[in-house]
Amino acid sequence: MRYRLLKNTDVKLSQLGFGTMRLPILHNNEKLIDKESASELLQYAIDHGVNYYDTAWNYHLKASESFLGEFLHETGQREKVYVATKLPCWECREYADFDRLLDQQLENLKTDYIDFYLLHALDSYRFNKIHELGVADFMDKAKASGKVRYMGFSFHDDYEAFRPILDAYPFDFAQIQYNYMDDDFQAGDRGLRDIADKGISSVIMEPLRGGQIVKKPVGKLKEIWDSFHTDLTPAALALKYVLNREEVTTLLSGMGTMEEVVENIRICSEYGVGSLTEKEMDMIRVLRDYYRNETRVDCTACNYCNDCPEGIPISRIFTFYNEAHIYGDAANMREKYKKNVKNKHKANQCVECGQCEEACPQNLPIREDLKKAHSFLMDS
Ligand SMILES: NC(=O)c1ccc[n+]([C@@H]2O[C@H](COP(=O)([O-])OP(=O)(O)OC[C@H]3O[C@@H](n4cnc5c(N)ncnc54)[C@H](OP(=O)(O)O)[C@@H]3O)[C@@H](O)[C@H]2O)c1
Repeated sequence: MRYRLLKNTDVKLSQLGFGTMRLPILHNNEKLIDKESASELLQYAIDHGVNYYDTAWNYHLKASESFLGEFLHETGQREKVYVATKLPCWECREYADFDRLLDQQLENLKTDYIDFYLLHALDSYRFNKIHELGVADFMDKAKASGKVRYMGFSFHDDYEAFRPILDAYPFDFAQIQYNYMDDDFQAGDRGLRDIADKGISSVIMEPLRGGQIVKKPVGKLKEIWDSFHTDLTPAALALKYVLNREEVTTLLSGMGTMEEVVENIRICSEYGVGSLTEKEMDMIRVLRDYYRNETRVDCTACNYCNDCPEGIPISRIFTFYNEAHIYGDAANMREKYKKNVKNKHKANQCVECGQCEEACPQNLPIREDLKKAHSFLMDS
C-alpha cells in the first residue's frame, strides 16, 4: 500500500480508505450487515495496509458504526487504524444535540476517541443552520476534550457554497465527491485546489461514482474500451485518475466484495501521483463524454434516500434507467423493472412527500426523475 501524509501532521494515511456504506448484507436488508463476510473484508484490508475506515450515523440504516466498532473492539485492532465518522447535521436542532450525538457515536464505535470527525453532507442551508446553533464552539470543545482528533466536513452542494464553508472554521481536512465524471460537479477540480491552497488534506468519496463507471463494458462502451487497447480495468482507470492528483490524501471506496477489496488495494499500492499517462487521459475524455451523454439521472446509489415510506427502491430504479442507456440494454432493464420491482413499490407509487429529496446529497429532483424512469421502463 502507498501512503500520503495528512497535511500538518506526521500521520500517514493509506491511499485507499474503506467506506463502510456498501458492506455485504443479508436477505436484501440494508440493516442486516453480513457480519461474517464484512469482517473478512475489513480484516483483509487491515492486513494489506488500509488504515482509514469511514462510517457514518446513517449508513446501513444506522448499523454501520456499531458493526465497525464491534469488529475493531473484539479483534483488538482499534489502535491499528484511523476511524472516521460524521455528525448527522440534519438531526441537530439545538446545541445539546451535538454532544448527545457525538457521545452516542463513541458508544456505537466502542471507543473514547474518533480520529476523523466530519460535519456530514454539508450544503449551504445545512451549514448555516448548524453554524447558528454554535457548531464551531462544539468542534473546538470536541477537539480539546480529546474525543475528536481531526475535524472536517463532507460536502454536497454547488461549488459556490464550498468556499464559504471551507473558510468558516480551521478544518483539518475536507471530503468531496471526485471522479473523472465529476471534476466540474459540486466542489470538483476547483474545490480540490481550494483545499490544497488552504494547506489541508482532501479525502475523496465516490471515486468510482458509486460503481457507475466501473461496470463491465458492453455494447458501444466496449467498442470505446477496445479502441484504446488497454489492459486496465475500469476501476484501475478511474482510481488512477484520482490518485494522479497530488492534492488528494486518501480516497474512499465503498467495497462490498472481496474481489473489489483485493483489486482496489492492488491499484492503490501500484499507482500514485504521475502514474496516469496521456493516452489514459485521452481515454478518460472519451469515456466522460459518453457517460455524460447517456446518463439520465446523476444518482450515485449512495442510498441516503432508502427510507422511502412507500418502499420505492429509488436508486435501483435509477440504475435500471441509466444502464438501459449506457449499455444499450433497454429490453433487459425493462424486464428487470417489471419483474423484480413489485407493483406496490414501483416508481408510480410515489406520493411526492419529498423526503427523499431532502436526503439526497446530489440534490436530484427525485420525484420528477421517478416519473421519467417509470414511463421509460414500463414502455414495451
Ligand atoms: N459524506 C458523504 O456525504 C458521503 C457520501 C457518499 C459516500 N461517502 C463515503 O465514501 C465512501 C466511498 O463512496 P462510494 O462507496 O460511492 O465509492 P465508489 O468507490 O465510488 O463506489 C463504490 C461502488 O463501486 C463498485 N466497486 C468498488 N470497487 C470496485 C471494483 N474494483 N470493480 C468494480 N466495481 C467496484 C461497487 O459497486 P457494486 O456494488 O455495484 O459492485 C461499490 O459499491 C462510502 O462508502 C462512504 O463511506 C460519504
